[in-house]
Amino acid sequence: MDGEEVMTSGINKYQKYYLTVEEALNNIFSDLNDESVVTEAMRYSILNGGKRFRGIIALAFCEVISGDYKEAIIPACAVEMVHSYSLIHDDLPIMDDDDFRRGKPSCHVKYGEATALLAGDGLLTLAFEHLSKMPDAQKSIECVGVLASASGHRGMILGQQLDIENENKKSKNINDLLKIYKNKTGKLISAAGCLGLIAGNASAEDRQVSSYYLDNIGLAFQIIDDVLDITSTTETMGKPVGSDIKNDKPTIASVNGIEESIRYSKSLISEAKEKILERFGEKSHTLLFIADKVINRVN
Ligand code: IPE
Ligand code: IPE
Ligand code: MG
Ligand code: MG
Ligand code: MG
Repeated sequence: MDGEEVMTSGINKYQKYYLTVEEALNNIFSDLNDESVVTEAMRYSILNGGKRFRGIIALAFCEVISGDYKEAIIPACAVEMVHSYSLIHDDLPIMDDDDFRRGKPSCHVKYGEATALLAGDGLLTLAFEHLSKMPDAQKSIECVGVLASASGHRGMILGQQLDIENENKKSKNINDLLKIYKNKTGKLISAAGCLGLIAGNASAEDRQVSSYYLDNIGLAFQIIDDVLDITSTTETMGKPVGSDIKNDKPTIASVNGIEESIRYSKSLISEAKEKILERFGEKSHTLLFIADKVINRVN
């Protein structure tokens, strides 16, 4: 394949994975059969508007090693549920206090804080109920462990705690910020890839190379989020920009500057691409496209 064919194949598969995750989530949430305000709030928060980046990563990794992305549909939806829960809680007035999410009023604005709290809890627990339904019990158990540890108090929750402690900080230590980013954002993105690898029966070596790529793109993803919080608009992002400044939260973008942050993100992405290309050769297109998307994205 020449460069253009590789690119086209990457875009097509990315779009296919996106539509697969959308359809699967729509099916799950239209079939819940337990109508209550909290179910409605869960549905409101997960359907329509997410980029499905983590679900796409799970499917892409599964396909690169097994040839069949469908094996990873259950974990892809589970990681999107955990992600959506984290956003509901992240927007609460006691956290970032943001009123818009995915182009709509945030869950707490629409349903009130108590229901938003419970809708987040509902999505988190549903994610694990859903993982328990994987046809292969061994894979199911492994996926539960990976997703729980990435989202829990050694992962995303830890990152969110450190992020809150980072507000109004006078010392702006880059290593402290890197630790926050790796936990609050990086671990869930890494878990997404790992779930796809488990679903597709990856070898230890595949996992090792992939974890390098995933760590890099996860970190770059949060740095670019912070850059966009400064340079983009609320309309484009679908969430309020200027949130970090409003909360007096130092970020890598505000401490090191936009240009340096983009340069650093690009270097993380190109290292990630190099490693993955070395390992998976021609099959790497979608993973290369995903890596580029982290820095080329507009929202
Ligand atoms: C936003 O994640 C939260 C961060 C970790 C920066 P996304 O940018 O993936 O949000 P959605 O899912 O597309 O709304
Ligand atoms: C959030 O980081 C990461 C989460 C674990 C939810 P941000 O607070 O920067 O995410 P946005 O900008 O609100 O999406
Ligand atoms: Mg936050
Ligand atoms: Mg936030
Ligand atoms: Mg942000």
